[in-house]
Amino acid sequence: MEIKIFDDLASLNESFTIYLKEILKDRERVTVALSGGSTPKSLFDYWAQHHKNDIDWKSLFLFWGDERCVAPTDEQSNYKMTKDHLLDHVAIPEKNIFRIKGENDPDTEAERYSTLLQMEVEMAAAVPSFDLVILGLGDDGHTASIFPYEINLWENANLCVVGTHPDSGQKRVSLSGKVINQAQRVAFLVTGAAKAEKVKQIIESREEVAAIYPAAKVDPVSRNLVWFLDKEAARLLVGNY
Ligand code: 6PG
Repeated sequence: MEIKIFDDLASLNESFTIYLKEILKDRERVTVALSGGSTPKSLFDYWAQHHKNDIDWKSLFLFWGDERCVAPTDEQSNYKMTKDHLLDHVAIPEKNIFRIKGENDPDTEAERYSTLLQMEVEMAAAVPSFDLVILGLGDDGHTASIFPYEINLWENANLCVVGTHPDSGQKRVSLSGKVINQAQRVAFLVTGAAKAEKVKQIIESREEVAAIYPAAKVDPVSRNLVWFLDKEAARLLVGNY
């Protein structure tokens, strides 16, 4: 596990860009599962502003780690956020975009997306193995759309599951734990003081909280896990990172 701590969003976004470029180097097809939420929004804006022309977009094949079960035009849609802040600004070919169809029936879509992943993402140990899965961390310790109160979804045998937001009741299609942990690389992008307690628990006492926080179950078989943290999110860490 590698921990990278940054003074500000710009330096976090720049470091993540270098990390992504390294993965893209000499590769024609890199599969990435995106997360939703506000943290990646800042990264997408950064790419649209500073890296429109120096990232090999045509080699990037975009999927989602989770999606709210709403129309792709809905403000809640992770796809819409990505389209507004990234896809409409850079030259990623339409054919490289594999959105979860939030407008479909959740269970049907979970099945459809599971089938799609098996066709579009290289398999490892009979599981789609993304080159990179980007994850956020919820204040409650959720990641993707697997929430603590239904943490059993993490171990689900299916590749995609249907989660339900604990407050809003909103349905969401999410990758299950076995897909996330089969990725070649997993990167957490976590910013803000509200995440500091969970970041500390998950990084410094993972074993103790792995039964209660889905984010603490992220443990890729590849061992390639990197945390990109701003100093607020990292402020309670006591280790020497
Ligand atoms: C979503 C995300 C979710 C998100 C966390 C952190 O669909 O909301 O996939 O898992 O990453 O809630 O969100 P923020 O980055 O907005 O704090």
